[in-house]
This record gives sequence, structure tokens and C-alpha cells, in this order.
Amino acid sequence: MRSLSMRSAVSEFMGVGESPTLGFFAYRLIAIVAILLSVTLAALSTLPDIAPGDRVLIDRAGAFVAAIFALEYAVRLWLAPQFQPDDRAARRHYALGFLGLVDFVSVLPLLLVLTPAGFSHDLLIFAQLLALMKLARLATGLPLIVTVLRNEARSLLAALLAMLVVLVLASSIMYFLERTVQPQSFSSIPRALWWGIVTMGTVGYGDMVPMTPLGRFFGGFIILLGVALFAVPAGILATGFADEVRRRDFVVTWHAVARVPLFSGLDASRIAAIARLLKPQIVPVRQVVIRRGEPADAMFFIMEGEVEVDVLPNPVRLGKGQFFGEIALVMEGPRTATVTAITETRLLALDRADFHRLIEQHPEIKTSIEKIAAERLRGQTKA
Ligand code: CMP
Repeated sequence: MRSLSMRSAVSEFMGVGESPTLGFFAYRLIAIVAILLSVTLAALSTLPDIAPGDRVLIDRAGAFVAAIFALEYAVRLWLAPQFQPDDRAARRHYALGFLGLVDFVSVLPLLLVLTPAGFSHDLLIFAQLLALMKLARLATGLPLIVTVLRNEARSLLAALLAMLVVLVLASSIMYFLERTVQPQSFSSIPRALWWGIVTMGTVGYGDMVPMTPLGRFFGGFIILLGVALFAVPAGILATGFADEVRRRDFVVTWHAVARVPLFSGLDASRIAAIARLLKPQIVPVRQVVIRRGEPADAMFFIMEGEVEVDVLPNPVRLGKGQFFGEIALVMEGPRTATVTAITETRLLALDRADFHRLIEQHPEIKTSIEKIAAERLRGQTKA
């Protein structure tokens, strides 16, 4: 029992649990420093003019970092059964997974102090560099990249295929155009492929250059084609990222709208329709959102935080799930009060045109909003 609670405490510290804690941030910092240290030491150890004494020191430091990774590996093996009832299966699952294997490899440089310079030593230095892959666990934005790559895999593959076809054809044609004038450079199609890659990638090392007029003309054409073709995957990825971020924002907004009491009776598709109309907005603390007497262009739903409405005799505070700014829209008049953010507040704004469309389509929402607006107005007149 005790070990279970200890396990969950340690897993929280290492961010294995649901919500990241302060401990997790500390762990993250230590882990990132260790990873960077590991890579720096690996890079330093390849410097040619390092004194033998310093080299030993670098190897020792590398082994020390690997010892930290060894401790992490052992703790992760111990933690693995946290979410699976079968201890052995959970540990196997972790150890044979991508991150488990990376964790294991980054422990190997412990042997740095034992192996003399040579092939095995080089392998250990490479293992030290592989510790960089451990960042995959710590970089929070990485799952987004993986999702986008997965979503766009088909289009990316199609673009890659098109590039491959053009590359092979262009290089082969260039081989036939240049082989008689430059038999050394363009000696075969595989050699010409190198020219194709360098040219289409718009790198142009200049080690293989077409000499014949026809070759030059064709080369120029391939350069232009390369620029256009290489831009395709970039475009696919850029729209993929934008789409995915929009999708995620939409899901967050949908959940937020579903939690607003005013919309609680609506089904999922109607909530989705409303979520599409709402624009998220973050208001810093003490900022005025609405000023009395000004014309109205939107109403607001509070997703997080608190605002204060300056009605007399006592200001009214509104919080999560409540809305404001509806009176002026319903009455088609100026704002009846000033509303200020008491804390940093996350709002969803519904602009005037969408508001009227919404209450037209949903008479029940219109009734509820009008009822609340009338109550609030009565509260104002009393004062
Ligand atoms: P509106 O008049 O558009 O802009 C100011 C907003 O403050 C108003 O809509 C209401 O949403 C809100 N408000 C006004 N009076 C009260 C009240 N008595 N209690 C709560 N909110 C109010």
C-alpha cells in the first residue's frame, strides 16, 4: 500500500501522472540540463587537440550523466506498472517502446570510463548523442507535430513521390545530355542522381555542373521546378498545423460552450454550431470589457475568471458559466453598466449579428436571455 502511494508521488514528480506539478517542472529542468550536458560532452570529446587528461575528465563526466539516466531508467521501470495491473507486461511494454529503448541506450555511456578509444568508444559517444531523443518526452508540442505528420501522411507521400519521379527523370536526361562532354562527372545515372538532388534541393554545391547549352537550359528549368516542388511539402505541413490547431481550439470551445448553463439543453451538433460562432478572448486583470453608454457589438460568456459589473448599490460579480453584455443587444440600446475583469478572464464573444441569428433559431435561448436581462435591469432600477 505504502509503495503504491510512493509510486504515485514519484510518478507525479516525473510527470507520468495526469496533471503536471511543480515537482515535474523541477524534474524537467534536471532532465533537460542532463541531456544537453550529455550532448555537449559527446561533441567536446571529438575535438582533436584535447589533452589526454582532459579527455579522461570528459569521459568521467559523461559516465556521471549516464548514471543519472540509469537512475531515471530504473525509476521508470519501477513506475511502469502504475497504469497497468500486470507488472511484467507493463515493464516489458515500457522497455521495448521507443522511449524505453532510448532511455536504455542513454545509460550505456556509463561504460565510457572502461572502454579505450576506438570503435566501441565511438559507439558510446553516439549513444551519448542519442540522449537528445529523450527530449521527445519533455517537449510538450511534439505530439502536435506527430499528429500533423500522421494526418498529412498521404499528401506528403504523394508530394514525395512526385519529387522522386521528377528527380529520377531529370537526372537521367541530364546524364544523356552531358555524358559525352563530361564523361567523368556524369559517368552514370546514379552519379547524375547526385546532381539532381543537389539541384532540386536548390543547394547547388557546384561539384557537378552542366556544360552543354542544352544541359544548362534544362538545368535551369529543373532548378525552377525544384523550387516549386520543394515548396509543396512545406505548404502541406503549414496548412496541416493550422488545421490541427483550429480543430483543437474548436474541441476546447465546444466543451466550454457545453458547460454554459444557457446551452445545457442543446444537443452536440447545436453546441458545435454555436462554438463555431464564438471567438475566444483573454482579458487581463483590471481591464474594462464593457463601458456604460457605449454602443454594443457583442455579448460575452465567461469561461474562466471573474468580472465585476458596477451596478449600485453593490457591484455584482459574475463568474465561470455566466454571461454579460446581453441587455444592450436585446434592448438595441447602449450598454447599461461598466464591466471590469477582476482576474485574468477567458471569454467567448458572440457578435451582434450572430447573437440575433442565434436567438432567432433558438426561441428557448431567447426566452432565457430575455428573462435574465429583465431581472438584471430590475436590479439596476431598484438601485
Ligand atoms: P449590457 O447593458 O449590454 O452591458 C453591461 C452588462 O452588465 C449588461 O449588459 C449585463 O450583462 C450586465 N449587468 C447589468 N446589470 C446587471 C445586474 N444587476 N446584475 C448582473 N449583471 C448586470
